[in-house]
Amino acid sequence: MSRFGLAAALALAAGLLLAQAPAPSAPPAPNAAGFGGGRELQRQTGQRFTDNCSGCHGTPGTVGRAPNLFDSRLLSARSDEDLFRIIKAGISGAEMPAFAELLPDAQIWQLIAWIRLEADSARPRPAFIADPDGAVITSQAQKFRLKVVARGLDTPWGIAALPDGGLLVTERPGRLRRIASDGAMATISGTPAVWERQDAGLMDVAIDPDYARTGWVYLSLVELKPGYQLPPPPVLKPGERPPNHPSMTIIVRGRINAAGQWVDQQTLFRSPPDRYTPSGVHYGSRLAFDAQGRLLFSIGERGDMANAQDLATPLGKLHRINRDGSIPADNPFLNRPGAVPSILSYGHRNPQGLAHDAAGNLWEAEHGPSGGDEINLIRAGGNYGWGVVSMGIQPGISARAAPGMIGPVAYYTPTIAPSGIMVYRGNRYPGWRGNLFVAALSGQQLRRLVLAGPRITRQEILFNAYGRVRALATDAQGHIVVLVQQPTGQGTGQPLSAATPGLVVRLEPLP
Ligand code: HEC
Repeated sequence: MSRFGLAAALALAAGLLLAQAPAPSAPPAPNAAGFGGGRELQRQTGQRFTDNCSGCHGTPGTVGRAPNLFDSRLLSARSDEDLFRIIKAGISGAEMPAFAELLPDAQIWQLIAWIRLEADSARPRPAFIADPDGAVITSQAQKFRLKVVARGLDTPWGIAALPDGGLLVTERPGRLRRIASDGAMATISGTPAVWERQDAGLMDVAIDPDYARTGWVYLSLVELKPGYQLPPPPVLKPGERPPNHPSMTIIVRGRINAAGQWVDQQTLFRSPPDRYTPSGVHYGSRLAFDAQGRLLFSIGERGDMANAQDLATPLGKLHRINRDGSIPADNPFLNRPGAVPSILSYGHRNPQGLAHDAAGNLWEAEHGPSGGDEINLIRAGGNYGWGVVSMGIQPGISARAAPGMIGPVAYYTPTIAPSGIMVYRGNRYPGWRGNLFVAALSGQQLRRLVLAGPRITRQEILFNAYGRVRALATDAQGHIVVLVQQPTGQGTGQPLSAATPGLVVRLEPLP
């Protein structure tokens, strides 16, 4: 039986259990850029489909006289460009009319994204997430087994491999864990307090490129605005969310001493107080080092897309600083009056993946609005378009490309919600060398992308049945280790920001 067959059988068996599962938490509150507005645009686009298409094509659940457009085979056989050409020009000699006169290009692109999103939401979801331990997976270039190396983590977010074979793992509520090569887990004491709410908390962890000599460990985390007095906690009605307060991503480094304590902390990046916002979303904040050992990190636009195009704010940007927090002399906006000097690139929405390939190219992954998740190749000073262009559905955006804005190398509609990414450079899995691995949250998958210089030539989903995949690393033995968030017992329909138990899983190569 295939692993999907097994998952389906378990899903049936778990149906009864699920009926007693706690209700999922409330959906994210609409904010400045309007998740709510996004829903309204999707509703309008759905109405446009009803008005123009469903009479012949039917709907996700019904059959019309023309092919059903929500069919996964049809959708995977056609690129967005194919669909665009057909809808715009029609099919001569067939009943399919040309919509060039009736629908502006932007509405045709929105219809295409909407059809893909709708087809995905109509797809049956497994009601139960299986335990990955022991699962054997035969993928295109490598057979492997999943081995759980640690359990019981709360919403694990970042992972870094230590030279001694151990791992450092962050948990979003604010714990830094050290997991020894035998699986024994310890909590590092004295790590900085974090603001945990919705997307916010303790986020990424990375070790210094010269760790053996310096011992520095880098963390990204969210803090409340310094000096802000929290009001007394409100009395909440059932299902009501607590209010948010001004918060912001900061970057620190410190050392872990022999007693397992966090010491010598230095703050490397902290924004001016006016950049702290009460939005609870899109903090970034992946860490990476470039070939010269400089520290790169990402910060999301905090739910307001105008921030991404504004060089005066650190929000919606990738940043580059020296390891002591100083600004590199060749940063692209260093001499631009009013620009934040640490900015490396801009026009980003919520970047949560950063990785260099062997040739030194910097790859980035970011969450799109509804659809339009992106894999980008980063150029210093580049504008990646968020706020103006997107491949997804977003109120206020009607173009997919614009002069001076760099488009993605790959994008995903429906959404997969890419988080950590990594280029594999070890030699445990010969068929995977130089490939880009993408951890995806809502897609609940680990994806393998074959790179050829600046292009992606092939993609494969390695697994998608074990919960959200948050981040990954290569351990000292050359094994890929991934953080999985398993919403076991609560099905899969929770918001992305929900707190869930997590696992560390190792991919063990099989002949
Ligand atoms: C009057 C009926 C009619 C309407 C209205 C119509 N279509 Fe079609 N469409 C067809 C038929 C029939 C075909 C199949 C043509 C063939 O392959 O011979 C088709 C084919 C297509 C295809 C190609 C499917 C494939 O095989 O990949 C797409 C995409 C498509 N239509 C999209 C749309 C969209 C989007 C709308 C609304 C904006 C729409 N159509 C409105 C009749 C219609």
